[in-house]
Amino acid sequence: MIKINVKAGAAAKQRDDAVVLPILAGRKLTASGRALQACTGKTISQYLRKFDQLGEFGDIGMLYEVEGSFSQRIVFAGAGEEKGLSLDGLRRLSARVARQLERGGSRDISMYLTELSVRGASLADKVQAVAEGIQLGLYRFDKYQSQKKKNTRELRSATIMIESRKALASAETAVMRARAIAAGTNFARDLANEPGNVCIPEWLGEQAASLSHKKLKVTVMDKKAIEKAGFTALLAVNQGSAKEPRFIVLEYAGGKKADKPVALVGKGLTFDAGGISIKPAAQMDEMKFDMCGSAAVLGIFKAAISMGLPLNLLGVIASTENMLGAAAYKPGDIVTSYKGLTIEVQNTDAEGRIILSDALAYAAEQKPAEIIDFATLTGACVIALGAQASGLMGNNDKLIRGLKKSGDHTHDRVWQLPMYEEYQEQIKSEIADIRNIGGREAGTITAACFLSRFVDDIPWAHVDIAGTAWNMKGTDISPVGATGAGVRLVLDYLQKRS
Ligand code: BES
Ligand code: ZN
Ligand code: ZN
Repeated sequence: MIKINVKAGAAAKQRDDAVVLPILAGRKLTASGRALQACTGKTISQYLRKFDQLGEFGDIGMLYEVEGSFSQRIVFAGAGEEKGLSLDGLRRLSARVARQLERGGSRDISMYLTELSVRGASLADKVQAVAEGIQLGLYRFDKYQSQKKKNTRELRSATIMIESRKALASAETAVMRARAIAAGTNFARDLANEPGNVCIPEWLGEQAASLSHKKLKVTVMDKKAIEKAGFTALLAVNQGSAKEPRFIVLEYAGGKKADKPVALVGKGLTFDAGGISIKPAAQMDEMKFDMCGSAAVLGIFKAAISMGLPLNLLGVIASTENMLGAAAYKPGDIVTSYKGLTIEVQNTDAEGRIILSDALAYAAEQKPAEIIDFATLTGACVIALGAQASGLMGNNDKLIRGLKKSGDHTHDRVWQLPMYEEYQEQIKSEIADIRNIGGREAGTITAACFLSRFVDDIPWAHVDIAGTAWNMKGTDISPVGATGAGVRLVLDYLQKRS
């Protein structure tokens, strides 16, 4: 794990493998770059005159062993037009630079990227974005690649340079926050990237238990305990699987005893074959990621604990596989849920809402202040929003507004879909209380309508991360695989709330 420091000081004085300076469109340097240029004779000026890409966003240029600088490399990180720069741009740029320098064998680097101005952002915001970018961008899941793992030399330390000593304290706090957030996100990624033969419900329970801390209580219910508690909807989905389900409850007591907790609920489907309504073969392997909702919950807990967030949290995860077998639940079955509502199963592949019904009903029973659930719930959400935003629905405007704001701020974005009463018609059943599919139209919304029946009148928001939870292309801040969607979003929300 890379160490991140903050320091104030001139670029010419640093003795590092690389000193990273921003360069703006039009080959414009910022203050530290100009100061370094003044110490290094003509080298930088000559180089800049020849530098082709003119500081376009994401371009990286390097100079080696420049006289007047003690560092091995001077690295120019193209930031584009300064007025167009966002915190997300800063996060992405930091990620790219860190990755490229690691590939080149650097071990210790210092970065002057927070000198860039970002409209509406404080220095602490910028330090946090840079620190997050470095740690998220360097993330790898290579434990199963025996050769690669051995051969990579890791970046050891990154020092975020700031202009004034006076801001050191607040910058250090920002780094601490970023460290917790990135560790939480990368933990969620680690859990979700595990293959489905390793990440089974039992293993997920062990991972939850591994978060142990004096302010945290983790209860992992095995099949027997689940039967006893009456989580019958979860048991129905589990019928076709050779592996036991788990129902996981986390209680974090960071707030006052009397404070109602915020409940975080996650879909922990460790593999979704679709059940008897089997999925097509293409990309079915990606359904190992169907537990990303639960991974987000665990990532948020990990970060909340390490930040010491002063509030109470309740985590609830329902976990099983959705498989086919002689005992599997079938289209046409009627399942009685924990809450007592009966569910007509018309498609066994719409299993997420079924297991969440028990998790949400249990959460609602604990009378939390609000409930936020995370689930890779619908293919329809991937079609509607793609990978750029998670679907957001719920029954409470204030909660929705808060999440929307945090989504924009963290760039872990959400977009609201309407929950008009009329949509509820689509999940009416002729023979049970509700049915588990609502037809092709508005599939993301009717799934949320289903969930809404289990939260009573508690303020509730549902985050459909089907399109955002993993990616098969890789982005600046995430390699191919799980992204940790939802973690930054909710940590920002919780922080503002406390
Ligand atoms: N886990 C899937 C949703 C999903 C599909 C997430 C693709 C990410 C990518 C979920 O359990 C599911 O299969 N939903 C069905 C519901 C349908 C049968 C009403 C879907 O979206 O096709
Ligand atoms: Zn499914
Ligand atoms: Zn699923």
